[in-house]
Formats: sequence, structure tokens, C-alpha cells
Amino acid sequence: MTVSDVEKRVVLLREKIEHHNHCYYVLDAPEISDAEYDELFRELVALEDEHPHLDDPNSPSKRVGGEPAEGFTPYEHALRMYSLDNAMNLDEWFAFTDRVSRGLNREDAEYWTDPKMDGLAVEVIYEKGMFVRAATRGDGLVGEDVTHNMRTVMNLPLKLRGSNIPNLLEVRGEVVMSNSDFAALNERQRNAGDKVFANPRNASAGSIRQLDPKVAAARPLRFMGYGIGRVEWAMPMFAWSSQKEIMDGLKELGFSIPPEAKLCKTRQEVADYFEELMVRRESLSFEIDGVVAKLNNLDQQKALGFTSRAPRWALALKFPAHQTKTKLKDIRIQVGRTGVLTPVAELEPVPLAGVVVSNATLHNKGYIEERDFRIGDTVLIQRAGDVIPQVLSVDIDARPDTAEVYEFPLVCPVCKSDAREDGEAVRCTNEVCPAKTVQRIIHFVSKAGLDMEGVGKKWVERLAIDEVLVSPVDLFTLEKTALLKYEGMGDKSAAKFIAAVAKAKEEAPLWRLIAALGIRHVGEQTARTLANNFEDLEAIGKETREALQELDDIGPIVADSLWDYFQSDTTKEMLERFKAVGFWPTGGENGSEQSKDSPLAGKVFIFTGTLPIKRNEAHAIVEEHGGSAVKSISKKVDYVVAGEKAGSKVAKAEKLGLEIIDFEGFQELLQKAE
Ligand code: IVH
Repeated sequence: MTVSDVEKRVVLLREKIEHHNHCYYVLDAPEISDAEYDELFRELVALEDEHPHLDDPNSPSKRVGGEPAEGFTPYEHALRMYSLDNAMNLDEWFAFTDRVSRGLNREDAEYWTDPKMDGLAVEVIYEKGMFVRAATRGDGLVGEDVTHNMRTVMNLPLKLRGSNIPNLLEVRGEVVMSNSDFAALNERQRNAGDKVFANPRNASAGSIRQLDPKVAAARPLRFMGYGIGRVEWAMPMFAWSSQKEIMDGLKELGFSIPPEAKLCKTRQEVADYFEELMVRRESLSFEIDGVVAKLNNLDQQKALGFTSRAPRWALALKFPAHQTKTKLKDIRIQVGRTGVLTPVAELEPVPLAGVVVSNATLHNKGYIEERDFRIGDTVLIQRAGDVIPQVLSVDIDARPDTAEVYEFPLVCPVCKSDAREDGEAVRCTNEVCPAKTVQRIIHFVSKAGLDMEGVGKKWVERLAIDEVLVSPVDLFTLEKTALLKYEGMGDKSAAKFIAAVAKAKEEAPLWRLIAALGIRHVGEQTARTLANNFEDLEAIGKETREALQELDDIGPIVADSLWDYFQSDTTKEMLERFKAVGFWPTGGENGSEQSKDSPLAGKVFIFTGTLPIKRNEAHAIVEEHGGSAVKSISKKVDYVVAGEKAGSKVAKAEKLGLEIIDFEGFQELLQKAE
């Protein structure tokens, strides 16, 4: 390819990828498979790698997140981002519309209504159709620059679509996370021993306020546009004259807008819409806490103007909160897989949003102390979406004289070993605490681990209590006769149990085993990276912290956690036992037994420059032969396959003293393999 061919190809790939992002994330109607999408993406990344002068901050490849920011820069909004006044019931809504009627001197008016999304308010700015900046609402006048993180929000257009592109456009909206994405995120966080979020709003806000955009990129955030700030049209005669036109316009320019939004012809229609959504609230895919009604006609909006804090032409009709009060009877401690002692409130059972709640989380020791919860107190609890109910605050006026301050235990309630404060958490210090063991083995067999269908959680618990299972390795030596001794364990279930273990032993790839170990901060993604770069568990254990950090996705915290894990004698002993029972997956994700003899087996390749075959084809060939292919250069790489016009990577490879071969050399290796 000539230089201009490359440039054209890069532009085309960027357009294609953004088109498919729009289909997938905005229209919810993908046109191609994930594999086809990945292929386009990889091709773009490879071309951009080789031709750094084509760099563009708005390339879809930048959505994975660039360098961390040093801090947040304040950003002054050109037009103030106002707040909204609230109505707590329909009487207040009708009172508001009376004021509007008086102000406009007319009977009734049309209102644009959309759900009040529960997330974080952000303004995104486009110049000549290109995304240039994003800032949080802040206090309405000054927010924080979060451009680096908003670029990773997949449904946010980096380039506006259509033919009528304004010279300048400021779009306001809410950054949110869907309930299902939120539940999956928390599951991943829990499995990796990371922080679990209380609700989608906290997860969205926490993700946008991260210095490292790679963190935001890994979070399933969405931007829902609901209004505009400044707009300057390229076509002088053009303007939006109603809220409906704005929303239709935003859709055409490529934005997602809140689901269920609609134009109501009368104030009664707004009231009906409010009641309808209140009923359907639980079944919507996003958390909403009310509806927002805005006068549709922009001239009418202008005529009414603003108070010091909110528009006179819009109102939030709030749903009653999913909160209630009840008595805190006691606090009990649960011990998790990583040994964290989590306090759980035992409550006087109360109905809340359709279920009876008798337990709620108190998060951690500091949470109880800061909010001064005492046993016997009346507390406010909340349940939102799929989330575990939580205790929010105490009703001090209702505190009885008998209320008791809770002493957070500094011993593990299960094994009685010392528990130590570690950041926000209190952890059991006993490596072999039975509570940890149970949770660890449950994780080991779960979907996030070896995915042993047929090995039930209940059974793991029983077997661990009886010390039949003390370590995950014991699963592999368990005999059917031992299982059959249990009441309720029939011949069929026992056979299924044993078969599931045998299947995992035969088939599980290295990354699954790594993920199954439950090492702190090591989820599926990191496990895959490790499996692609190391021969087996022992090889990972031999690395220094510094060497681990050279890998993609592995920063100092994860490297430390890995290092600590593999240093421990318990781990070393367990690895020996895995080997002894014959469960020892190797050679990365695709390293299968029969390819062990291939000269490519266990070897790490990197491809650079223009090659006669597509990059992903080359990767597939390597993987078929039991090797692995990586994108960034490091000492781990065995072969650098350099095509034509190979750039900076070859220089780096030479520095590191790596073996550099051309495509013919690669073909020779393949011939030896066949
Ligand atoms: S309109 C001048 N529409 O609610 C009107 N706001 O309480 C400005 N919000 O800061 C807001 N969903 O973060 C509007 N459909 C929606 C909304 C919405 C959520 C948030 C927004 C704002 C806050 C005001």
C-alpha cells in the first residue's frame, strides 16, 4: 500500500467502525458480527501503530482509553447548566402548569417529557462536528474536564453524523449504566475482589471521575442527551424551534436520547405519562427517579426564563423513593473469599418495592462509624434495581436509650484468627480460614472460574464444612463414593459432579485456571493476558513485579497482588498439588496438547509492518500451533515477524535483543511444524 492508500484505508476504517458503533450502541441493531467488528478494529489499530503520523484523538481506536490524566482541570460552562425544580406529587405538577399558563397567558401547553435518568450530568462539545471537550455539570457554572473519559463512552459520537452539522454544538445529557450492565460489572468486580458499587449512579459517577481513562473504558457507560447549551449553525437559516426538534435533531446527529421520551399535548397527558412510567419503572432497563416535563416551544421557554437555580419552563416529577424506615435488630459479619469482613444489618422485616427486606448491607467498618449506626436504632434503608438493599442513615430522634454502639470485631468470626484493617476493609489474616476456603472454592468452580457445571454451590459448602474440600485441588481427588455418603446426593448427581471436574481437568485453558484462583484484582481480562504471555502458573510465579508490569493491562497494583499471591507458601504448595493430580494447563489459551511439539508451541510472536496476510490471520495461525501473538513489544516476545515498512517496533526489538525474522522465516517455521 502506498502512503495515500494507507491514509484512505484508515479514514474508511474509522468511518466504518464508528458506523457500526452507532448501529450497535445507539440503534441497538448491529449489522455485522462481533468477529467482523474485531477484525476491522484490529486492522485499524495495526495501521495506526505503523503510521503514527495519522494519529487522531477522535479515532475509534482511542475509545479504549489513552494515558492517565494528572488531575482534573476545572471547566467553565459557557452557558450555565441549571438544576430542576421538583414536584413530589401531581398536585404540585398542576400548580406548576397554572404558573406556566399565567406566565404565557394561555390555557394549556405542549410538554416534551422524558425520564429523569439517574446518573451524572455532563456537557459534551463539538466543533465542526468533531468531539472536542466534555465536562461534568459541577455546580452548574464550573465543572471538571472529563474529555479523556467521555471519549471511551461507546454510544457517544466522536464525529457528528448527517449533512447539517453545526459549527458549534454543546449537548447536555446524563452518563448512565443500564441495570444489566451494572449487575454484570458488579459481578466482575466481586470476582476480582474489587470494589462493588452501591447503585448504577455511583458506578457511572465513579467511572467518569477516574484519572485513568482505561478504567472508564472498561465500564459500560452510556450518554443520553436531553438538551443543548450553545449551538451555532453552519446554515444561517436553520434553527431548532422546539424541544421535540432538538431531540429529533440530536438523534440524527448520532446521539442516544432517553428511552420512552415523548411529546405530550396537554398537562393531563403528562400526568398520565408520569403514572404509567411509575408503574413500569421496575421493568425499564435504566434506573429513573421520575420524569422531566419541559415546555415544548422554545419561544415559550424563552418567555418564561430562569429563576436563580432552575428554569421556569421545566419541572422534575419525582417518583416516591425506594426507601423506608425499619429497626436495626443486630449486625452480623460475613466473611468473603478475600477474607473481607462485611457487616450485614439484621432488620425488622419490612416491605419495600415489592419484596420483604430483612437484611441490608452496611458496607464496612468505617461506614458504621461515620453514620453512627447503633443496634436498636431506627434506620432508613433503600433498595434500587437489582442491588442488595443498603442502610442509608439513622433517625436520631427515634434512638432509644437502650441503643448499643457496635464493636466491629477484630477477629474473624469464623476461624477466630486476627482480622486487620486494610484500607476501608477489615480482613481475616488466616490464609486457610474455612470461610475463605468455601468462598474460594465456590469461585473456583463458578462461571467466572473453571465453570464446572454440575458442581453446585450448596455442595461445595457442605463438603468444605466437613473438610472434605480444604483446597480447590481436593476437587480433583474426590471420589464418587465419598460423595454418595451424603444424604440427598444421588448416583446421578454424583456422576455429574465427578464428570464436571474431569471435564475441566481435560479441557480448561490456562486463563480459566488463573481466573479461578481468585487472585485479588485479577479478573478474566488479566487472566487472558497472563495466559497469552506465560507457559504456565509457575512461569508467572517466577516473574518480578517489574516484569509483570510490562504486560498490557497490568499496573503496579495488579503486579503486586500477583507477586504476593505467588510468593506465598500456601500457593506454592497448591501449585505442586495441581501438578501432582495432573491438572496443569499450559501454553496460553490455545495451547492444546497435540501442538506441543510444534516449534511455535508456547512461543510469543509479534507481527509488524505490511505482511502478505492479514494480521488476525497470522495471529490465528500462531494460536493454532499453540503459540500466542501479542500487540505490544516486551522481553516476553520470542519472534518479531517484520514485514515491509516495519517501523519503530523493529528498532525496539533490536534494543531488547529479540529474534527478528521476515515473513519467509515465519513460513519456514510453519513448515517445520507440519
Ligand atoms: S433537563 C434546564 N432532562 O436532573 C434543564 N435533566 O435535577 C436541565 N436529569 O442536572 C435538565 N434526566 O443531571 C433534564 N431527562 C432529563 C434528565 C435530567 C436526568 C438530571 C440532570 C440535571 C438534574 C436536575
